Amino acid sequence: MALPSQSEEQIQDREFLRDVLEGLGRRQKALPCKYLYDETGSRLFERICELDDYYLTRAEADIFSKYLTDMARRIGPAALIVEPGAGNCKKVQQLLRQLDSPTGYYPIDISPEILMAAQGRMAAQLPGLTIRAAVGDFSDPEAWTGLMDFPACKKVVFFPGSTIGNFSPQHAEDLLAFFKSMLQPGDGLLIGTDLVKDAVVLERAYADSEHVTAAFNKNILVRINNELNADFDLALFAHRAFYHPLRQRVEMHLVSLKTHSVHIAGTRVYFEEGETIHTENSHKYSVAGFNCLLGKTGFTPVCHWSDIQRRYAVHYAQVN
Ligand SMILES: C[S@@+](CC[C@H](N)C(=O)[O-])C[C@H]1O[C@@H](n2cnc3c(N)ncnc32)[C@H](O)[C@@H]1O
Repeated sequence: MALPSQSEEQIQDREFLRDVLEGLGRRQKALPCKYLYDETGSRLFERICELDDYYLTRAEADIFSKYLTDMARRIGPAALIVEPGAGNCKKVQQLLRQLDSPTGYYPIDISPEILMAAQGRMAAQLPGLTIRAAVGDFSDPEAWTGLMDFPACKKVVFFPGSTIGNFSPQHAEDLLAFFKSMLQPGDGLLIGTDLVKDAVVLERAYADSEHVTAAFNKNILVRINNELNADFDLALFAHRAFYHPLRQRVEMHLVSLKTHSVHIAGTRVYFEEGETIHTENSHKYSVAGFNCLLGKTGFTPVCHWSDIQRRYAVHYAQVN
């Protein structure tokens, strides 16, 4: 896997600056959540996954350990697993071990450091498996071009971790339709979604008692300071996460604690006291609601598995 070249990095910096200034110029200031994941952000996310309050990882792991054989049977032999937003590639390993002669593994992630470390580990742990990693935005067709290096075979997109929840229902529909456009009839989608539940449980998961999520959220400001020559004072922002029952999502914000301004690459941005930057959404679905979404994108829901407390669901769907 190649790291982005200098000129690619410069292009990424320009896109980052454009997105930051555009987002902070809106009435409701907002930043795209993909920028939460630089190397530090990815490491903080790994710590979040280990927190007691963040039940999602454990619920998903319970489902995988209980139903892995069934999942592998549904996927069938000689499949190529594509994982958009693979992160540390930990979750896929047990699936790859369970599959009958997988053709290969194609992880895509926007964070090159975490992906490169994971690729090295996986090559040692799964010798003989063809792995080709791609650094890039999984919603960009460019990031999928490396799939052409694999022989024709059944492809299954593996999308765990409730990453689909970071997209609004409309954008989730667009993203799944895009994934589908990269696949052929008979190919599959194995995807994790967090289920609608009690607001107290949800809010605790995104505002944990150890304040790791707060550090993860604020890291986006650190990143803007470091990469875009900005002067955010972290002490002037607080982490806030709350469940919005009508929109069925947990929203993560950074609240400005006083009226002040910040310079970003020479542009001044004003913040009122109490004004927020909206940094992430995590949408929650019922099984029926998610099946309905899948149906709109050209995937046919095949089955789903849930944990005993019905906190989380893993769905398997096929391209029509
Ligand atoms: C919620 S984490 C999930 C990681 C892993 N799949 C899991 O389930 O633990 C999201 C991952 O997606 C990556 N990511 C987020 N937005 C992305 C994008 N637009 N393109 C590529 N990767 C992205 C992040 O770098 C991060 O590793």
